[in-house]
Amino acid sequence: MSASAPLPRLAVLCSGRGSNLGAIIKAIDSGTLDAEVVGVFSDRPKCAALQLVPATLRWSAKPGDFASRGDFDLALGDAVANVRPHWVVCAGYMRILDSAFVERFRGRLLNIHPSLLPRHRGLDTHQRALESGDREHGASVHFVIPELDAGAVIAQVVVPVQPGDTPQSLAERVQAQEHHLYPEVLRWAASGRLHEHDATAMLDGHTLFTPRQLEFPES
Ligand code: GRF
Repeated sequence: MSASAPLPRLAVLCSGRGSNLGAIIKAIDSGTLDAEVVGVFSDRPKCAALQLVPATLRWSAKPGDFASRGDFDLALGDAVANVRPHWVVCAGYMRILDSAFVERFRGRLLNIHPSLLPRHRGLDTHQRALESGDREHGASVHFVIPELDAGAVIAQVVVPVQPGDTPQSLAERVQAQEHHLYPEVLRWAASGRLHEHDATAMLDGHTLFTPRQLEFPES
């Protein structure tokens, strides 16, 4: 990208510690992701993720201070729209977004989920992978649609389950891979290679009939 071209603008939604946001910021700072974080948005005003960006880029509010789920998501959506994002990036955002929010940003709304979707939608994925006797687990980046964790999957990383794994040990290895996976997909997004069309993911103009399987070194 030339120095004068405007950078793709990322709005990032977080609820927790923000290690994926940290990986995105690191990729930008190291020059491997040509994009700009223009806002970080949270339903948990005290979450660590917010501290990763300057106060001027932070927005947070408590859902309990709003009359309804719809009111909160409308306020969140207005705040996100206000920073004019090209991509809205859910990175450990732990609230279900209502359909009005999803439709507002549809096609440029991404999420990272700690499983090999469509396996283990929802919560507690590491524990459920172990209980199911899965030999492989991992993480997926997908377009967000109103149905939870059900949008078109763009890319995945596989993490083999090891004997003696606990939910914690498995989560650590999966998250280390997430920190490679999300920046890679955002590179595709930021360089105009990624689109959602008719509920499918498209990369370089071609439908991804199956998610791209990516491999990264263990870190
Ligand atoms: C990640 O495991 C992500 O897959 C899931 O929530 C976790 C967020 O972690 N959606 P962090 O806040 O990015 O550290």
